Amino acid sequence: MILLGVNIDHAATLRQARYRQAGVTHGGYVEPDPVAIAFRCERAGADGITVHLREDRRHIQDEDVWRLGASKTTRLNLEMACTPAMTEFALKLKPHSVCLVPESREEITTEGGLDVVKHREKVARCTDAMNAAGIKTSLFIDADEPQIALAAKLGAPWIELHTGAYANAYYQPARTDEFARLCRGAEQGHAAGLVVNAGHGINYVNIAEVRTIPHLHELNIGHSIISRALFSGIDEAVSTMKQLMNP
Ligand code: PXP
Repeated sequence: MILLGVNIDHAATLRQARYRQAGVTHGGYVEPDPVAIAFRCERAGADGITVHLREDRRHIQDEDVWRLGASKTTRLNLEMACTPAMTEFALKLKPHSVCLVPESREEITTEGGLDVVKHREKVARCTDAMNAAGIKTSLFIDADEPQIALAAKLGAPWIELHTGAYANAYYQPARTDEFARLCRGAEQGHAAGLVVNAGHGINYVNIAEVRTIPHLHELNIGHSIISRALFSGIDEAVSTMKQLMNP
């Protein structure tokens, strides 16, 4: 059974589109509340909730994360940049897991995997701190041999394979190669003793193939679920994705 982590960042994106200036997300009628959405996702079958607290705070806010930490009924996975400030935040919050992602202010969403080879020392420092605090670290990386080989040495128990390039190539000839690359990466990670997750760009069409990547533990899915919820509601969007993942 493949687990589903629902990324609720885009519910916060919608709220910020109207309430960016409000600064606070409580004490008044502010919609949509991402924490209420998270609760509904959990009730509909999500196995965990993922949020990305970005340095520019463009969607999820600190207060959302604290409220989620207190109210979640499943697991909280905090996506974050590998910085001292975010490490300190995570150590205070104590989520079930953190997922280290690259971050640049210009990108619309996370556009590539974290280069753990280039940022080895920073990643090692952050992973060591999380391990000492009993927080699982996941490394969001491209399915490339050197990245996975080093991830296994850095002491992080999980990797999340970046499925964005595959999703972008879905209607192109390059899809075959991108899919093969993900399968090879999953095999390599599993053989090295890593728990293999995947995420980015997974939707209700490509899930039929994504779910056949070997050794998948959990998929983190955001945009397609929040988008579908506009038509059918969040309960249907989550439960249908869960069914498609595990037919
Ligand atoms: N996993 C990671 C590490 C991400 O950065 C994102 C995007 O924020 C996702 C999963 C979810 O991607 P999507 O919104 O395309 O489903």
